[in-house]
Amino acid sequence: MKILFNFCSKEAVFDGKKAIRGGIPIVFPHFGPWNYGPQHGFARLMRWTVEKAPERLQNGDVEAIFSLCDSEYTRSMWDCPFRLSYRLILREKELHFNLAVYNPNHNCMFPFHLLLHTYFKVPDVRKCQITGLHGCPFIDKTRGNNMYQEIRNVVTIDEWTDRIYQCTPQELMITNVVSGRKMRIFKYNLPDTVIWNPWEKARDMADFGNDEYPNMICVESGQVTHPIILRPGTTFEASQVLQVM
Ligand code: BG6
Repeated sequence: MKILFNFCSKEAVFDGKKAIRGGIPIVFPHFGPWNYGPQHGFARLMRWTVEKAPERLQNGDVEAIFSLCDSEYTRSMWDCPFRLSYRLILREKELHFNLAVYNPNHNCMFPFHLLLHTYFKVPDVRKCQITGLHGCPFIDKTRGNNMYQEIRNVVTIDEWTDRIYQCTPQELMITNVVSGRKMRIFKYNLPDTVIWNPWEKARDMADFGNDEYPNMICVESGQVTHPIILRPGTTFEASQVLQVM
């Protein structure tokens, strides 16, 4: 993808202690505040293994594969053996993310959340239009976690926004992303869509520039309202394709 679509705050801290404020952090195994470990789980804080360094394939695609397995550190928070595999395919106008979570246990199932916390860079978030959410129920975290139903065909943002839309369709579109282009999100097995912009609350965040919030929007594909239950010896697969139009 030649157009750089990802937002990354100029205040982001790359010290490996906290998730950076930008890019596409992977939320696993827990979404939100967590009694047993860091908010949004540990996967976005950890060093993943490079299974396959980025390599150009015969058809011109670039492929890279990463993995993350349980360790003493992860089991100190979440006592489950697991293997997460993350395969990226880069094409001229597309980025494909394939995620697989494997449960190697012989007799124990485990529940987890999974989400791609994608930060999009935008010229002006007030001008972005998100389509595809009409009719979807959502939890509004800015209004006491109450449930509502989206009645708009086109969702726009002009204030602090933190919503978990449920049962969202496989395809969503965001207009006016970087360079004014449209971004198509196509997803599989990720039924929830979180929309987040901290607005002026960004001023209280040390790793977020005070004036940067108009230039980002998080549209996050995942499964976070009902955990995925993974039976022993089975694999859960999900994917997302971002396509610049
Ligand atoms: C979103 C959540 O996914 O992530 C928000 O819905 C949260 O509630 C936001 O504030 C950012 O989280 P963090 O941990 O990266 O500051």
